[in-house]
Amino acid sequence: MSSTPIASKIIPKAARAHLDPANIEYTSEKQKNAVAALVEEFTVTPELLKSIQKNFMEGMKKGLKKDGETLAMISSYVVGRLDGTEVGSYLALDVGGTNLRVVSVHLNGGGEITTRQTKYRIDEKLKVGDAKSLFDFMAVCVDSFLDEHQIVVRGDAQIELGFTFSFPVLQTAINRGTLITWTKGFNASGMVGKDPVALLQDAFNRRHTPVRVAALVNDTVGTLLAYAYNHPETIMGVILGTGCNGAYIEKISNIEKWKGKTTADEMIVNMEFGAFDKERVILPLTMFDNKMDRKSVNPNKQIFEKMIAGMYLGEITRNILLNLIDRRLLFEGNVSADLNQMWTFETAYMSSIEADHSPTLHETRKILESTLSFPSTTLNDRQIVKTVVELVGKRAARLSAAALAGILEHTGAWKHKSAIGIDGSLFEYYPSFDTDIMDGLEEVFGEEVRKNVSLGLAQDGSGVGAGLCALLAAKNSATKDA
Ligand code: BGC
Repeated sequence: MSSTPIASKIIPKAARAHLDPANIEYTSEKQKNAVAALVEEFTVTPELLKSIQKNFMEGMKKGLKKDGETLAMISSYVVGRLDGTEVGSYLALDVGGTNLRVVSVHLNGGGEITTRQTKYRIDEKLKVGDAKSLFDFMAVCVDSFLDEHQIVVRGDAQIELGFTFSFPVLQTAINRGTLITWTKGFNASGMVGKDPVALLQDAFNRRHTPVRVAALVNDTVGTLLAYAYNHPETIMGVILGTGCNGAYIEKISNIEKWKGKTTADEMIVNMEFGAFDKERVILPLTMFDNKMDRKSVNPNKQIFEKMIAGMYLGEITRNILLNLIDRRLLFEGNVSADLNQMWTFETAYMSSIEADHSPTLHETRKILESTLSFPSTTLNDRQIVKTVVELVGKRAARLSAAALAGILEHTGAWKHKSAIGIDGSLFEYYPSFDTDIMDGLEEVFGEEVRKNVSLGLAQDGSGVGAGLCALLAAKNSATKDA
């Protein structure tokens, strides 16, 4: 278990070093045609982007009307906005990304937040084991964090904890809900239909850990809150990381299915947009996406997420490379033992390959030869690999743009100054992801959108946001159950 302080400076992200497929010296006409076919299949044209946006907006409307729709449009029970003046200390547990994190969040007022956090790796076996063991592990991590940071609780007092549980949970209160389905490689048994808060509270109680789960929050909702703490014009929180999803501020009068009581007139809605187009009517799915989907732990689910998120992009790329190898159009038809294994082509490699500016594609060579153990590669091999990576990466960014454009048009937020806070490794590290999204938004709305809408990195939004949510839960205890 390692304790990692949150980096306060943002690591500058490399720009994409685009390689024009027209400049590749192909080894054969067949190879050239194969690349051209991939370009055609993976390009999201402006027309397609707009059609996806329209379909997405229809999905939003349906989800706001009733439960059980493809876009779940979950009422988060988080009402009220933050203005950066709030002060206090909260504990947050963040589960749903690559690591589990325990974070202590200190709101100092004036939009200033300080945090201390410890990351814990969740064993792959725990993700697909029984739910009790998984929740016991979460309680152990919180316990050890309290020890490590010497957080002492006196008498019968309890620490209030915001629980970021980044899976589709149908909420029935700020601290209650039921899991709809697992995503992102988690599949612990006996959990669907259960309340993650109750399971976590039971695990704390079993260990006599003096913690009360005060708020249940999706990472997108947390990100929105965290970004809003110093950007009051924030209207949306987005995750582009291991998984993907978005939350935005909606007028309660538009949430037709809302039956709860509140005096507020707006609420954050967790869209669960990774599930978009379950019906497979609009997304340009390829055989490489289908192959990856079939082999995932949740086939047929989260199709949109699987075309966008960091957990999957490397595997789609690997499937394309294998296909080219099998057709003897790459690496002279030879595959390395490493590339032959599922999930070995990490999305992080794609970031490095995208940023590779060198004429010999030196970085790409390092990944293929040193990391993926190809004995040797030619410049042509590396150029083909880079082209494939660029196609998969750019498609992901443009599909994200279609979703954001849907929300911006639905809310009308593109017409005035608004901010979108985005957390996640893909947005933080993948070259030109932000530029590609902005270009996509401009295709839909025209130049004006660049002046009005800003995309910003909400670093660690999901952890900080859970602390903020615990605060809002205390502030708005008037929000009643449905
Ligand atoms: C989950 C969402 C979450 C997103 C990003 C998806 O798999 O269903 O709840 O917000 O990942 O972490």
